[in-house]
Amino acid sequence: MTAEQSKELLLSVQGLKKNFGEREILKGIDFDVHKGDVVCVIGPSGSGKSTLIRCVNYLEQPTDGVISYRGENVLECFKNLPLYRTKVGMVFQQFNLFNNMTVLENCVVGQVKVLGKKSEEAKAIAMKYLEHVGMASYINAKPHQLSGGQKQRVAIARALALEPEILLMDEPTSALDPEMVGEVLAVMRELAEEGLTMVIVTHEMAFARDVSSRVIFIDQGVIAEDGSPNVIFTAPQNQRTKDFLSRFSLTRC
Ligand SMILES: Nc1ncnc2c1ncn2[C@@H]1O[C@H](COP(=O)(O)OP(=O)(O)OP(=O)(O)O)[C@@H](O)[C@H]1O
Ligand SMILES: [Mg+2]
Repeated sequence: MTAEQSKELLLSVQGLKKNFGEREILKGIDFDVHKGDVVCVIGPSGSGKSTLIRCVNYLEQPTDGVISYRGENVLECFKNLPLYRTKVGMVFQQFNLFNNMTVLENCVVGQVKVLGKKSEEAKAIAMKYLEHVGMASYINAKPHQLSGGQKQRVAIARALALEPEILLMDEPTSALDPEMVGEVLAVMRELAEEGLTMVIVTHEMAFARDVSSRVIFIDQGVIAEDGSPNVIFTAPQNQRTKDFLSRFSLTRC
């Protein structure tokens, strides 16, 4: 048994297609995510990365294909998609915090409404994750009082408070001012080192190279390359991967 086979299979995407009107955006995507994987999804603008992540979480309805979670077809085993999204959580580029709620309330509401946790327990869990991302002293602030980096760290704490088995992230740092990027990448790096399973769409190539266990290169709606960061960043097999990566100058992350 290889190391890959011995790891628990959490998510399996098979034959995923997505059309918008006449346009075929995803043309048959297959990949598996095992426990502890940190998969970075890279690729040109418009190649379908966000569409892929949104389909995995059923924020978009796939046109074709099957998404399985722990071996079961998600649509058959989760009648309640919000419950599925507590297992496969999501962090968005634009944070998507509730502006009328405090930091703490943002991290409590999903636990109470979707998981049925009691408010006191939910608060304790929220505090644990807010501490983890360095935001415990801001619990009474509203999102508009926070910097972009702080908002994103709260959004990560909110996702973690649902204790997902997999965290999906769609360009979590690309809406941030450059000086805020590092603090969010540092949190993501720590989560990776702690063993959290993540699928991260990113343009932060140094992060993909240095932190991920696997890189998927999406081009024109297909997986053009899928492999270890070492291979993809030093000897990509596909000319389009090479061309794409040549646009980035990589320093240490
Ligand atoms: N809701 C939608 N309706 C119609 N077309 C869409 C919709 N969402 C995305 N598209 C189209 O699908 C294609 C892929 O978009 P997507 O957002 O997945 O790309 P991306 O790889 O995430 O790009 P970027 O790196 O710029 O974020 C684009 O051509 C986009 O215009
Ligand atoms: Mg996108």
